[in-house]
Amino acid sequence: MRIAVIGTGYVGLVTGVALSEIGHTVTCIDVDPVKVSQLNQGIPTIYEPGLKDLIQKNLTAGRLSFTSYHHEGLEQAEVVYIAVGTPQRTDGAADLKYVEQAALDIAGNISDNVIVVIKSTVPVGTNFYIRDFINQHTKDGIQIKIASNPEFLREGSAVKDTFHGDRIVIGAEDSATAGVIEAINQPFNIPVLKTDILSAEMIKYSSNAFLATKISFINEIANICEKMGANVEEVAKGMGFDHRIGPDFLKAGIGYGGSCFPKDTNALVQLAGNHHHDFNLLKSVIQVNNNQQSLLIEKIIQRFDDIKGKKVAVLGLAFKPNTDDIRESPALVMIPRLVELGAKVIAYDPIAIENTKRQLNCPVVYTTEIEEALSGADCTVIITDWPEVKNLDLSVFNRLMTAPIVFDGRNCYSLDSVRQSPIEYYSIGRPSSIPELIG
Ligand code: UDX
Repeated sequence: MRIAVIGTGYVGLVTGVALSEIGHTVTCIDVDPVKVSQLNQGIPTIYEPGLKDLIQKNLTAGRLSFTSYHHEGLEQAEVVYIAVGTPQRTDGAADLKYVEQAALDIAGNISDNVIVVIKSTVPVGTNFYIRDFINQHTKDGIQIKIASNPEFLREGSAVKDTFHGDRIVIGAEDSATAGVIEAINQPFNIPVLKTDILSAEMIKYSSNAFLATKISFINEIANICEKMGANVEEVAKGMGFDHRIGPDFLKAGIGYGGSCFPKDTNALVQLAGNHHHDFNLLKSVIQVNNNQQSLLIEKIIQRFDDIKGKKVAVLGLAFKPNTDDIRESPALVMIPRLVELGAKVIAYDPIAIENTKRQLNCPVVYTTEIEEALSGADCTVIITDWPEVKNLDLSVFNRLMTAPIVFDGRNCYSLDSVRQSPIEYYSIGRPSSIPELIG
């Protein structure tokens, strides 16, 4: 099948590359010529394990190409995927300006009746709106069909998730259209759910909202555990054995971030509101997450009273490991607050420093060496559970820091190992370990 993919962000790039890997001829279109030239040389524009090899393999095989000229990709396409961003507007709703631009580009450049597949996460009802919008702007009576095919990949494991996903959801108006999209995806050998368009759109928002709810729920349990002296990890383990609950997404921490959960939960609250439904449960999930992001700061203030002039080592900037993405990372909330309180911040991350520098304009020293960050630090704050941080020999804190005081927002270390070290240790939902108290 000849496929065009508009947008080479996380979703578009991984989708285009994966579709070429299973044998389709794919042209990825992006308005940024610098990105396009980089991708045509086989250099990925995002950090994603396994992606580089697949791009190079399929470029060489002639099944994959990148262009910034819409007509090059669209004139010959049989199916066109829209995979552009739907960023959050100031009122929390999804901004559709890039989807609308892609729709206009499709209308102006297709030469036949194509199927347009919307991969971007769009408010319920958008597929119909975009179908009508394109059909109003096409020439020579061309009429497109629309299909919703939401994406469930996670950053950092996007390639693996695409080839080993739990399900492929296809929302279409008629079985012929759904059948074409099912046939395109057949080589992935992943269970397919064919449904109506509105339900497909809703599945994406509901899935992300449910996962965010699981995280905020366990974070609230963690906060209660702390007050009562229980250990949230034991609680989550005990809950997870129940197959109706399941063990995944019950890891307490300093809150969810990234490009999807914060944006999609806000958008679903908005969407519900537009239909006169007050989604109180999801509003609370969002509130819990916002509070969770500043929890460690409160613990630091409690411990030190005043951190003016103190050197604070921040370990991790990315919103989670294995990505250089810092969107909605707790680091963006915590570092400015630490600086505001007068701390001298030195921040470690293996790959997310450049993105952070573009976003944060407060005085921070950056390093890709953990030991450099820890040297002479008065306290350490762990924001991202990078393997490099989790696998640290705990003696390093005592060896390098002025005093080994660690605030761990990701519960990286077992309480047993911490208790055998001289570290003063505060984590999330677990008893603190304070050496003089242990005796
Ligand atoms: C998420 C969804 O998982 C994916 O299906 C969807 O397509 C896009 O949004 P992603 O944002 O890449 O993917 O990351 P994910 O691994 O789901 O983690 C999201 C956030 O939740 C991270 O900040 C992570 O640290 C946090 N998290 C996750 C927890 O705090 N606890 C958990 O148990 C799991």
